[in-house]
This record gives sequence, C-alpha cells and structure tokens, in this order.
Amino acid sequence: MSVGIDDISFYSSGMFLPLATLAEHNGEDPDKYRIGIGQNRMGVPAQDEDIVTLAANAARPLINDENREKITTVLFATESSIDQSKAAGVYVQRLLGLGSNCRVVELKQACYSATAALQMACGLVARKPSVQVLIVASDIARYGFDTPGEATQGCGAVAFIVKAEPRLLSVHAENGCYSEDVMDFWRPNYMDTALVDGKYSTIIYLKALRQSWKNYQEAGGLSFGELSRFCYHLPFTKMGEKAHRKLAVTNGETMDEARLEQQIGAGLHYNRQIGNSYSASLYIGLVSLLENDAEDLSGKHIGLFSYGSGCVGEFFSATVQPGYKTFSRRAAHIDMLETRQELDYEGYASLFSHTSPKDGGEHYFAEEAAGHFRLAGIHDHKRIYTEVGE
Ligand code: COA
Repeated sequence: MSVGIDDISFYSSGMFLPLATLAEHNGEDPDKYRIGIGQNRMGVPAQDEDIVTLAANAARPLINDENREKITTVLFATESSIDQSKAAGVYVQRLLGLGSNCRVVELKQACYSATAALQMACGLVARKPSVQVLIVASDIARYGFDTPGEATQGCGAVAFIVKAEPRLLSVHAENGCYSEDVMDFWRPNYMDTALVDGKYSTIIYLKALRQSWKNYQEAGGLSFGELSRFCYHLPFTKMGEKAHRKLAVTNGETMDEARLEQQIGAGLHYNRQIGNSYSASLYIGLVSLLENDAEDLSGKHIGLFSYGSGCVGEFFSATVQPGYKTFSRRAAHIDMLETRQELDYEGYASLFSHTSPKDGGEHYFAEEAAGHFRLAGIHDHKRIYTEVGE
C-alpha cells in the first residue's frame, strides 16, 4: 500500500517587505540579499495574524464534507508556539469544523518538526488505512532589527493531508536521521526573537545533511542519480543551493548552474517571496516544485532534506504520482502572493515592534488580515479567533 501526501496548500501573511527596501534602510547592497542570500521579499504578519490564522488559512482549501470526519489526527508543527500547554491545532480543529473524535497535538524541534509529523502520520495510516491525518506547519521567523538574520525573516504555513493511496506523493519507507546537541539557533521561553549563530548554523546544517544522507544510504535509499529533484529546508534559498552542491560533491558528482537549476530551481520560487517559515519551509518548497517545474514529474523520485537547528536532520524520498498536476492549487497560491500589500520600512518596523499583550486585559486588533481567519483580540489571556468580517 502506498502512503503519502494527498493534497497540499500554503499561506503567507497579507503583507510583505521588499528586501530592496530593507537593504536601502540598512545601507547594504540589495544584491547581497537578492543574490548572496537569495531572497526577494519577506512576509510580515499583521497584528491580527498569528500561527493559528496562518495555519487555518493554509488548511481551509483542503477540508471538505468528504474528509472532515475521516481526519482523525491533527499534527501542528511550530517553533513559534503561542501557548506552553494548549496545542495550537485545537483552535484550527474548531475553525475548520473538523470532527470532535480527533486527536490534536503540537510538535516542536525547530524547523524539523513537520517531518516528524509526516513520519508519524505515515505510521498511523499504515496501521489503519481508512484514516487521514492533517498536518499543519506554521511559523513566524523573527531575528530582530539590525541583526544579520533580519534579512532572513518571514512567515508562512503549509497544510497537507496524509492518507493511503495519495494523489500527489508516495513517501518511501527508507529514511536517514542525524541528531546532535548543538547551539546554532534557539529561542528561550522568555525571548520573542531567536538567537542564532548563522555561520555556525550553516556548517551544522551541511554536516547534518551529510550524516542523514549516509544513514539514508545505509537504510537502502535511492542513489543520488536515481533522484530527479531535491527539496531542502530553506532558511534562505541560497542555503538550498549550498546544500545541493555539497550533496553532489559527497556523491562524486559535478553540479553546474544548469543542473542545479533543473534539480532544485523550481522549488525555490515561493520561499524567495515569503522568507523563512521555519517548520513550513521545506514543504512550501515542495509545493513550489510540484507547481512550477516545467517538466512532468509523474513517476519521478524526489529527495527531501529536513533540518531543525539544535539539531535534527532527516533525509527521505518520495515518488510523484501520475496525474498530480490535476490537483494543483497554483493559481490560488500565485494570487495570494501577488495580492499581498507592500510595506515601506516604517510599516514593517511598526508591525515587527508589536508584541502580544501580556496583561490579561481586553485587547482588540484592527482588521488587517487578508485571509479567511483572523485573531480578533486577546481577552483575559484568551485568544479570540474569528472569520474576517465577523
Ligand atoms: N552581491 C552578491 N552577493 C553578496 C553581496 C553582493 N553585493 N554581498 C555579500 N554577498 C554574499 C556573501 O558573499 C555571502 O555569500 P556566501 O554565503 O556564499 O559566502 C552572502 O551574500 C551572505 O553574506 P554574509 O556577509 O555572509 O551575510 P551575513 O553575515 O549578513 O549573514 C546569514 C548571512 C545567512 C548567515 C544571516 O542572515 C543569518 O544568520 N541568517 C539566519 C540563518 C538561520 O536561520 N539559520 C538557522 C536555521 S537553518
């Protein structure tokens, strides 16, 4: 029986900052961000957007009367959690009107946890093929003003349904993992922005890639040449290029620009427009590949590398299913990205300076969110989510 991804959709905030605007303010050459880091824009959440609204907006197109009761598990992956106890997925379960006979849980391991969710979901479906699992990965990446990481901020959420005989992607059982206790990126509970040693993180990312690949090979995984396309965790898209060149060298292969573009290029488009979305980034890259690769990928094998600082890496593979293009949500995704509102530097600075109220008072937020769901306010420490216009 084949198990994997049956449907997938992503969402980012209704506002964005061009990185050329940030470069101008920071006195940097815009090409450093555009070429050196590989980013054009970053998603900036409005006051009434958070990881729950991003996630619910990403998942909404996937839910219908046919699968509403079949989804028996919701796995919410994030590293920008809004609560130490309650899983953010419980809000999503209500907002989407999912059945109440549903287990909901939140997973954390930096940018990696959606892959843990995918592997868990595959196990659940393999044991009981009638069930479906909804995975949502949602994050807001904040490094702070005037930090090296500032140009690699962003936000986004991805949602996908894992089931038996999937229409998009059959996930292979072979995988390779690597974990090591390192401090390349972390965010203590008392901080709103992440602490990161960016250069060290790049080195550890590549080490985790090599070790995960080795473990994947030991598990009987496909060879480098058998994989047609590759998706990588993308804290910034240049990282994907660095990673792919490294993997090629590890396998004694050469990687010129044309081959690099063919093997990973289509997977970078969306991330270049929204910035880092932490746990969602690998899977938004996957959507970008499936929707923007000019070739028909039916029957082709894809290699995926998931990385979460701290660190955990996992390399795994999947096969694209014939007819996958029929279920593409490309038009809606392009429309969502192109209708976002452009911010100037002051607008970005004002939104990113905003921190969630902590006093337990009654706070209501202006309606700015562009999606279907919004965070209307926080009252008595409780978040109030509504539909836009409600
Ligand atoms: N034109 C083209 N390229 C340029 C350039 C220009 N005018 N100016 C600089 N560059 C290149 C640099 O050569 C460098 O390329 P390289 O990495 O291939 O050597 C790149 O742009 C970045 O420049 P650098 O000076 O290294 O930038 P930085 O010190 O500001 O830091 C990051 C860049 C990515 C390390 C930083 O943004 C960061 O820490 N981001 C967070 C990363 C993260 O989230 N990691 C954890 C999760 S995996």
